[in-house]
This record gives sequence, structure tokens and C-alpha cells, in this order.
Amino acid sequence: MSVRVGVIGAGMIGQDHIRRLTDVVTGATVTAVTDLDAARAGEVAARIGATALSTGAALIASPDVDAVLVTSWGPTHAEHVLGAIAAGKPVFCEKPLATTAEDCLRIVEAERAHGRRLVQVGFMRRFDPGYRQMKEVIDAGSIGTPLIVHCAHRNPTVPDAYVSAMAAQDTAVHEIDVLRWLLDDEIVSAQVITPRATSKRFEHLKDPQIMYFETANGVRIDLEVFVNCQYGYDIQCETVGEEGLVRLPDPAAVGIRTTGRHGTAVLQDWKGRFADAFDTEFREWIASVASGGEPTGPSSWDGYAATVITDAAVRSLESDGTTVTVDMKPRPAFYGGTA
Ligand SMILES: NC(=O)c1ccc[n+]([C@@H]2O[C@H](COP(=O)([O-])OP(=O)(O)OC[C@H]3O[C@@H](n4cnc5c(N)ncnc54)[C@H](O)[C@@H]3O)[C@@H](O)[C@H]2O)c1
Repeated sequence: MSVRVGVIGAGMIGQDHIRRLTDVVTGATVTAVTDLDAARAGEVAARIGATALSTGAALIASPDVDAVLVTSWGPTHAEHVLGAIAAGKPVFCEKPLATTAEDCLRIVEAERAHGRRLVQVGFMRRFDPGYRQMKEVIDAGSIGTPLIVHCAHRNPTVPDAYVSAMAAQDTAVHEIDVLRWLLDDEIVSAQVITPRATSKRFEHLKDPQIMYFETANGVRIDLEVFVNCQYGYDIQCETVGEEGLVRLPDPAAVGIRTTGRHGTAVLQDWKGRFADAFDTEFREWIASVASGGEPTGPSSWDGYAATVITDAAVRSLESDGTTVTVDMKPRPAFYGGTA
């Protein structure tokens, strides 16, 4: 039987996930859509034969909705996720889980009180084939104990609305999540420094930024966030261990020889780069819901951790590069910890 999904927020990524659930993933049907923009909800729902509902609360309560997908604006996520937990329905929430650590903890506590995991957070890199291969290599011990990770996250350009704190909150947050998972380790401090700024930015933005993270096991991570690099969307990650290193592969692309040059095209946005990861993420989420099991992807604890680590990075940026200790509660046994 098909999992009936209700979608809260039919904007850019909401519509992309609706297409994915409708055309790519088997075993799912989008039955309800809501958006603050009622006309948009009506138009998107009509396209796929779903019902347009007036609020997130009505959608969560609908008997035609088995599972909820939250793709509205970040500050509204907590309300919808808490509503889904109260209704006992599985909920996939695009990142961020919530915009404050307090709201993330409210979700964590509500889910623990419910007694089983209902929440998955949309950190899709864990589903990318390249990162999964890297994790297999690290877990197999093939490079020995990890010591250092070098990363870069580059976008061609960003709009005027992108402010300096978003380098951590919207951009580096993907590395923060995937590196915690890749290393099976916790990030305990953050430092953000700003080298010479590119002239290709809007005046208010600090770009590029170099972020340093340290883990509980002493691994050092350096991450270049450069969101006006001009040339393309480029994600790099290399983990150095005691006996070798493992590097994220570039996306497969044909080699082109022309006009005396040999090269490959560089992707221009994250949608193309992580298309396979998004598809796998939703296939696995729908499979977990269909089986009646708990989600296997990033948990609400991971959503909380990402928020407190990005908070530390923003505090460092705002205090001229001071190293800031991450203020994280002990991880409860419910989420694989010892507390
Ligand atoms: N995983 C990723 O890489 C990734 C990529 C893009 C966006 N996102 C996340 O997805 C979310 C949505 O981003 P977007 O780019 O699609 O934004 P968007 O502005 O294109 O769409 C958001 C939609 O939600 C609607 N909305 C807002 N509050 C609502 C509410 N309370 N109830 C119903 N509808 C509401 C808006 O009217 C809008 O149509 C953000 O949290 C963003 O961070 C994640």
C-alpha cells in the first residue's frame, strides 16, 4: 500500500520533493499540500490530484495523510514537527530541524516522550554515493585512524539576501552534519576566520570564510566556504588518516577535448550535484515508513547538534575568530548516547 504523504510548504524544494515522491520514488503518493500562499498550494495540488488544505495543522490531522513532509521556511519547522509528533505521524523535516537550540530540544523531548523515533531531518549528503563510499573506507579501517579532514564548499554566486551568518547556518551546516556521521565523532569547538574578501561579493558579506572544527577525538577539520567563487558549485572533502587518505570523488562527467583544451564541465548548483542523494534519501525514508519501522536517516538529535554547532560558528564569526566551545547537552541513550 502506498504511503500517503502531506506536504507543508510548496516552494522551491517542496515542489522538487513532490516531483520526486510522485515520479521517482515508488510506494508514495502525495495526497495533501498546504502553503501560506493558498493559490500556490491549490495549483501544485491540482497538478498531482492532491487536496489543498488551508493550514499545516489541518494537513497533519487529515485522515488521508500517513506521513508529513515539512518544506516550509525554517522558523516554522518546529511548530509542524511538534504537531506531527503529537499526532504520532512520521515526519521528514528539511533542514534546519528548528532555528533555535531550544526548539530543537523541545522536539527531542517530545519524540522521547512518544517513545520511538518519528523524525528524520533533511541532511541529504549522508545518502550521496561518494560520501557513503568514504564512510565505508573509514569504517573498514583502510586509512587507519582519521586525523585531519580538509573540505571546501563553493557556490558560483549568492543573492544579496545571503548574509555572513548563513555561511555557517545554510552552507557549512551540510559539512557539519556529514562529518559528524562520517567520523562517528562529535564536534566540540568552532572557529571562523575571514581572509581577504573577494571583490565579487555584495559589500555586507564576509566571503570567503575559513572554518575550523575540532572533534571530541581531536580530529581537526578545516572548511573553506566560498559562496562567490564564480566558476561553479564545487564540494571537496579529503580525510587524512594514520595510514592513508580518502577523497570524495568529483561527479562523473565526460572529458571534452576542444580548441586545444581538455576538461570536464563543473556543475553550477547543488540540485544537480546531490540529485542522486535526494532520491536515495526519499526512497529510504518511504521504505522505513512503509515498513512501520523507525527512520534510519539523520535524527532530531542530529538536527539539534547541527544547530548548536552552527550557533558556535556564528558566535566565532561575530567575535573576530575566537574559538568557541560547542554548548551541547549529553546525548541521550534514546539517540545512541550514554545520557
Ligand atoms: N537539503 C537542502 O539542501 C535544502 C535545499 C534547499 C532548501 N532547503 C530547506 O528547505 C526549506 C524550504 O526552502 P525553499 O528554498 O523551498 O523555500 P521557498 O521560499 O522556495 O519555499 C517555502 C514555501 O513554504 C511556504 N511556507 C512558509 N511558511 C509556511 C507555513 N507555516 N505553512 C505553510 N507553508 C509555509 C512559503 O509560502 C513557500 O511557498 C528551508 O528550510 C531550506 O533551508 C534545504
